[in-house]
Amino acid sequence: MSDTAQKTAILSIPGMDPIELPMLKGTLGPEVIDIRALGSHGYFTYDPGFVSTASCKSHITFIDGARGVLLYRGYPIDQLATQCDYLQVCYLLLNGDLPDNEQYREFRHRITHHTLVHEQINSLFKAFRRDSHPMAIMCGIAGALSAFYHDSLDIYDPEQRELTAMRLIAKMPTLAAMSYKYSIGQPFMFPKNSLSYAGNFLNMMFATPCEDYEVNPVIERALDRIFILHADHEQNASTSSVRIAGSSGANPYACIAAGLASLWGPAHGGANEACLRMLERIGTVERIPQYIAKAKDKNDPFRLMGFGHRVYKNYDPRAKVMRQTCHEVLNELHISNHPLLDVAMKLEEIALHDDYFIEHKLYPNVDFYSGIVLNAIGIPTNMFTVIFALARTVGWISHWIEMNEDPASRIGRPRQIYIGEAEREVKPLGERQKCVVCHPE
Ligand code: SDX
Repeated sequence: MSDTAQKTAILSIPGMDPIELPMLKGTLGPEVIDIRALGSHGYFTYDPGFVSTASCKSHITFIDGARGVLLYRGYPIDQLATQCDYLQVCYLLLNGDLPDNEQYREFRHRITHHTLVHEQINSLFKAFRRDSHPMAIMCGIAGALSAFYHDSLDIYDPEQRELTAMRLIAKMPTLAAMSYKYSIGQPFMFPKNSLSYAGNFLNMMFATPCEDYEVNPVIERALDRIFILHADHEQNASTSSVRIAGSSGANPYACIAAGLASLWGPAHGGANEACLRMLERIGTVERIPQYIAKAKDKNDPFRLMGFGHRVYKNYDPRAKVMRQTCHEVLNELHISNHPLLDVAMKLEEIALHDDYFIEHKLYPNVDFYSGIVLNAIGIPTNMFTVIFALARTVGWISHWIEMNEDPASRIGRPRQIYIGEAEREVKPLGERQKCVVCHPE
């Protein structure tokens, strides 16, 4: 898999000799112009949101937005979601290929025996109000983990990086369930080593000390599939936040906290919660047209949550699997007329045929159906993004490890176009005019 320069791009700037820029080609995807040399010529580029900018080289995930393709280490997402479980996918993302039976057994054993959290972490939860949003708790607790695991903070030690990855993958479900239990005033449930990764999470969420919780295998499989679909997605906003935090040498737990904070935004991982609340707000099929009109209105900040994507300009392949999972779960739970499914299905049908959405290439994304599935499973709406974060932790830590292993990795430090005041002199206090910026006349 080469990325050596294949061709050269010539940049012509008036008054300057032509600047030759090498063009790189990865295993898959478009050719890339390597602009690193621009700085030596006194120039840099402008690309808000990094729409046309590659921040790194990566072996982990490939997306072809035009064709709706998503590969984890080369394997198509629909095959992984239907033929593997989440822990096999975690192994794949971390190690570069799927495990054999022995490797899978050993990996699952290691993860299972890291699911407990330090007893003093229980006290940290008590510092939060009961009505705190679970994502607010997760942001705080994840960052605090670095105060508990001093033995694995040497980011240059491969064994400590690997131990941190095990701990994070294993403990996120425990912490996620604790953030839920704390918010409803129920006691925390310990992990049960006899259960699967998804089954254990469901048990910690819904069991109580008073009675056991019976894991429904269809729900367990659906949740495991949701974890797989959300496990990684190349250089999305939260993964880029983890990478740029890690580029300064910050410890992995602080970097995961940065990822959690970024994921929480409604334009990103917060969209599943925002999408369900939007469906609730629309309420009936009859009210859809007025919301479609709002989404098109440039003066209205309203957007159709669960639609559109920075990279996918075709149907998000994860949404296809999620749609199928949605119907499986509703059928299994004998939910024939989920109140929001009718609205979602009609909204999707209208959007897929509406000129505005077609022109803007706005298709349903992974968050469109996940909210309905999670709602049907009984996951409370304010836990949707926590589920996304739980699943994405393996992607975050895999990219963090890849960045720390990359000799070309440098501290992330974007430039800017300065549009502020030109240099000026400070006047003595008594001679200054009123600040009109703060108090416009
Ligand atoms: C995730 O990056 C990832 O990989 C993320 C993710 C992952 O797995 O990590 O895939 C997970 O975050 C999925 C996306 C979840 N977000 C939502 O569903 C929120 C709703 N979607 C939008 O906010 C938006 O589509 C984004 C943020 C997802 C993408 O935004 P872009 O690519 O920056 O596009 P844009 O905001 O510049 O919009 C382009 C045009 C604009 O119209 P014009 O000004 O050009 O006329 O499309 C319009 C936008 O107004 N538009 C929408 C819209 N999304 C874009 N109009 C109505 N509804 C929408 N949802």
